[in-house]
Amino acid sequence: MAKTKTNYKCRNCGYVSASYLGRCPNCGAWNQLEKQTTTVKKTSSKATASRLMTNIGSNEPIKLNEVKAKKEERIVTPYEELNRVLGGGIVPGSLVLIGGDPGIGKSTLMLQIMGTIAKDHEVLYVSGEESASQIKMRADRLGASDSGILLYPETNMENIRQQIDDLKPDFLVIDSIQTMNEPSLDSMVGSASQVREVTSELMKIAKNDQITVFVVGHVTKEGSIAGPKILEHMVDTVLYFEGDGHHAYRILRSVKNRFGAANEIGMFEMKNEGLSEVTNPSAIFLDERLPNSTGSAIVVSLEGTRPLMADIQALVTPTAFGYAKRTTSGLDFNRVALLLAVLEKRGNLMLQNQDAFLTATGGIKLNEPAIDLAITMAVASSYKNEEIPSTDCFVGELGLTGEVRRVNRIEARVNEAAKVGFKRIFIPRHNMSKSLKSRSDIEVVGVASLPQALKLVF
Ligand code: TYD
Ligand code: MG
Repeated sequence: MAKTKTNYKCRNCGYVSASYLGRCPNCGAWNQLEKQTTTVKKTSSKATASRLMTNIGSNEPIKLNEVKAKKEERIVTPYEELNRVLGGGIVPGSLVLIGGDPGIGKSTLMLQIMGTIAKDHEVLYVSGEESASQIKMRADRLGASDSGILLYPETNMENIRQQIDDLKPDFLVIDSIQTMNEPSLDSMVGSASQVREVTSELMKIAKNDQITVFVVGHVTKEGSIAGPKILEHMVDTVLYFEGDGHHAYRILRSVKNRFGAANEIGMFEMKNEGLSEVTNPSAIFLDERLPNSTGSAIVVSLEGTRPLMADIQALVTPTAFGYAKRTTSGLDFNRVALLLAVLEKRGNLMLQNQDAFLTATGGIKLNEPAIDLAITMAVASSYKNEEIPSTDCFVGELGLTGEVRRVNRIEARVNEAAKVGFKRIFIPRHNMSKSLKSRSDIEVVGVASLPQALKLVF
């Protein structure tokens, strides 16, 4: 079905606007915009859907072993941390959503990445939040201002689509999805229907024109404005940029990736001149440790394929009055409560009349069960007021009966601990192997239960 569309084109420079303007925003000429109508061929939604996925709807069923797989092409950026999170580089024609709290550094990250990509690709950076001069000022600070990024401060999707058709960029950045407006919809900018419609429009642009699209989305508290959560199923890759505003460290985490592993992380540090990669996170998290202190235990946590050594700290003090108080930061509150109960029952530690404060230092969030053993060791160390040797570290999940349960990818964890210079690592007995036992660079100790671990350490 054909549909006609009206817009206004500048006689002077060819700029196209969706509405009539007295002065052309591009060349500054007055009264040069003239009305024009174009016929837009409307494709049926079925046809669009088939174009979204190559080969769909085209022919009969094919035997899987006869299908020729296309080798995935990747654009490798100078940011190793980003490449790894994306599964080895950017896949051309993919739609990537970057979510995160306002002010965490999403625009900074995008500008830096695009600054390097624009050296050999056409990049269109659409900003609905900042003016061109604001972006320029930021780019100057980041050293990205001499790249050929095309800046386009705009929120109207019709105009944006027009520019994409004219410019045919290789990369498109939409910053942010919540500011974009599809004028054919009546709903408010930033509402769930707007955000969904604009995203599906961008998906079509990415797949039909093979344009790689990065969409920035603010994570918002439940409310009138729609957050990136509702878009996760629509896009190819979802990355979250997280961190705690009081610390300089930022983690880029993939929560969904059609072209790689989910839960992969990359680390960055926010500095005055922008984000820089953190290639040795373990060393950084262990940097500020005080020697011979009680209540600190080191864990080798695994985020995606990346082992990370983190310091878990506990402070256990007698409760002054009333209920024992428990707080956690960077650790799951309920998990910690459970582990305190296991310590009490299986480790014979009288914790019910003790306040316990636990934290994972550096503003990092740890949420895999393999950190259980380190949490209990930190609590026991503070309670007993006995330090853990600073060259010891721990990995293991705890069960309710106090058994130390197997964890995944033990070799990678032990290797990281040895690399950073730890001399002894406690691991689950069931993870023990001949090769681990015979290592000369680090002593690997297998433990079967919490009481056994307590006996060996204290
Ligand atoms: P920004 O990228 O604007 O965040 P978002 O797009 O996620 O809302 O980052 C804003 C914060 O980053 C701001 O508080 C200042 C800080 N920042 C730096 O510390 N150094 C820099 O070089 C830049 C550009 C920003
Ligand atoms: Mg921003």
